Amino acid sequence: MMFNEELIDQIRKAFPRAAADFNGKKRAFFDNGTATLVLRQAAQAENEARINWSANVGGIFDESREASEIILAGRQAAADFLNTPDPSTIVSGESSTSLLFNLSYAMSKKLTGRENVVTTDYEHYTNIDPWVELNKRGKVKQVRFAKLNMDEGTLDMDHLQELIDTNTKIVTVTAASNMLGTKSPLEEIGKLAREVGAFFVVDAVHHIPHGPTDVQSLDCDFLVFSGYKLFTSHGSFLYGKKEHLEDLQPFKVRTAPKTSPGKFEWGTRNQATFAAFSGVIDHFLWLSKEVQSKYENEFSNFDENKRALKIAMDAIEQYETEFSKAILTGFDDIPGLLDMPKITVYGLTDLNRLDERDPTFSFEVENIPEEEVVNRLWKEGGIAARAGHYYSYAQDIYNKQKIIRISLVHYNTIEEIKLFLKTLDSICKSR
Ligand SMILES: Cc1ncc(COP(=O)(O)O)c(C=O)c1O
Repeated sequence: MMFNEELIDQIRKAFPRAAADFNGKKRAFFDNGTATLVLRQAAQAENEARINWSANVGGIFDESREASEIILAGRQAAADFLNTPDPSTIVSGESSTSLLFNLSYAMSKKLTGRENVVTTDYEHYTNIDPWVELNKRGKVKQVRFAKLNMDEGTLDMDHLQELIDTNTKIVTVTAASNMLGTKSPLEEIGKLAREVGAFFVVDAVHHIPHGPTDVQSLDCDFLVFSGYKLFTSHGSFLYGKKEHLEDLQPFKVRTAPKTSPGKFEWGTRNQATFAAFSGVIDHFLWLSKEVQSKYENEFSNFDENKRALKIAMDAIEQYETEFSKAILTGFDDIPGLLDMPKITVYGLTDLNRLDERDPTFSFEVENIPEEEVVNRLWKEGGIAARAGHYYSYAQDIYNKQKIIRISLVHYNTIEEIKLFLKTLDSICKSR
């Protein structure tokens, strides 16, 4: 077991609402794919920055100087987290949606209308519509979608490879499907993109809390993720290779900086967002100290903070693999009786392939409406789950406009999973 009981307890204490909601109602929070709970130290850092350093940057007084410092520290924290040496390659924005629309517009200036974009059938619409918009405006000829292996919810890599040709200028893929939990083979896809000289863009929004994300090993040109999926407030980050950030011309106000990151940033920055993000990184740095005895020489080619962040995210990934195992084994055990409703899980269920998925599960229970399952999970087990459409194109591909989804992160526990499975079992049995 990567995390012992004491550590799990400490982690949960770092999240004021991990065990109970604001009313003191005990519940297991399984809706993390929609937004994660907030880390106390992120919220505190945000609050302090708001009060103490609310001045705008660029002044000579301490409040202003400190605001600039916090922003730089936050960018450095994001740079360490993604393993890029240069904080100026980290652009912040309102959301990943706004960052990708702005990026697609800037890229379109490089296109002639003859090119194509290759993406996949399991993207979030945030990583589809910026590119479809370019097609509508005659900036790209086609947006192509790589198919899924429908039975297992993975990418059909042969099809993806077939779609990429010399006219492909952008290959853009999610790091993990927010419906199926499947992780994309990003390194392989990146190689295919590079062979034809296409930009390789990664949507890391869903995957970000679940494991290490390294822009250098991926060799991606751009990568986006959002703070509210990583234990802090809204506001998102875009990594871009320096040369592209220098070269591309985004929508911009003429008096705004001419160099990155300011060139890509719309309006005045919120320093509190950066302070809060640094709080998240501090949490991972703390976590790495707690588990570092399990890591002897691993990641020793990275400098101190980067190594610590790798260790923390690796430990989280290993711990969460136990969640996936427990959930999938539990799903399998439920239909004990012949006449009990069947549970269908969309996505990888093979226990030997847990490293190919994040602990995000979309499922349905035969003959029981999604809302009924979700309501009963909540009322009878205190399980916060959701039934809906998560803006995932995969839901349209599977023709599931509504699906029950649970998504776990490192403050969840095996006990909560047991409670979930027990409640689901009793829902099935009462049918
Ligand atoms: C994979 C993925 N991409 C993009 C988004 C959208 O991110 P944002 O709300 O920051 O625009 C989400 C949100 O659920 C997501 O899961």
